[in-house]
Amino acid sequence: MSNSSMLTRTHPTVRWLIQLDLPHVVALEQDVSGLHWQQDDFLDTLRSIDTIGQVAEVDDEVVGFIVYRTGAQEASQEPTLRRLFPAAILGAKEPDFFPPPVQIELLNIAIAPAWQRHGIGQMLIRKPEQKLFQRGGHIRALVPENNLAMQLFLRDAGYKAAQVRRACFGDQDGYLMLRCV
Ligand SMILES: CC(C)(COP(=O)(O)OP(=O)(O)OC[C@H]1O[C@@H](n2cnc3c(N)ncnc32)[C@H](O)[C@@H]1OP(=O)(O)O)[C@@H](O)C(=O)NCCC(=O)NCCS
Repeated sequence: MSNSSMLTRTHPTVRWLIQLDLPHVVALEQDVSGLHWQQDDFLDTLRSIDTIGQVAEVDDEVVGFIVYRTGAQEASQEPTLRRLFPAAILGAKEPDFFPPPVQIELLNIAIAPAWQRHGIGQMLIRKPEQKLFQRGGHIRALVPENNLAMQLFLRDAGYKAAQVRRACFGDQDGYLMLRCV
């Protein structure tokens, strides 16, 4: 690649979503997501201390976003440590120095139509996974049954359909998709 084409080439970058981004993010959401979050939905969701919003930018323009919620998993739900370390090693009580596995819920993600299929969704969805690789756990996403693109996108990212939730998007079913680490 020549020096000039390297200089003009645009690379998406990911950073935290800030309040100034909201008009762009809401417009993008209304354009493509199908969940129809309004500005107040973003504000209410992101006000919560366990919820994270990130945006992808190209040349200072917001071209995608992701919102997810993180939480520690109850020991009874995903006994990762018990699987890795038998009772003989762990004893009756798990020691405090093992952080509990994380449970992440993907709440919303959207990429501007002009930037879809450029790997930006993949770039954003890898962000919450970093927490899983540190501590183990799972990410879950509830996807409307008619959103085939999202199902294929998640499948490509290693998610598996785990459950059908009847009529959870109005009259539409939702597929619960999980990625476990
Ligand atoms: C689903 C979405 C987030 C994917 O983002 P993206 O940046 O276009 O996805 P990527 O370029 O990272 O795609 C990675 C892989 O996922 C799969 N994939 C993504 N979109 C796909 C589509 N429309 N059809 C089939 N496979 C698809 C492909 O395997 C793709 O790899 P490839 O391009 O090398 O074939 C994006 O299409 C989008 O914003 N959709 C509308 C919003 C939405 O539905 N949000 C969910 C609300 S529940």
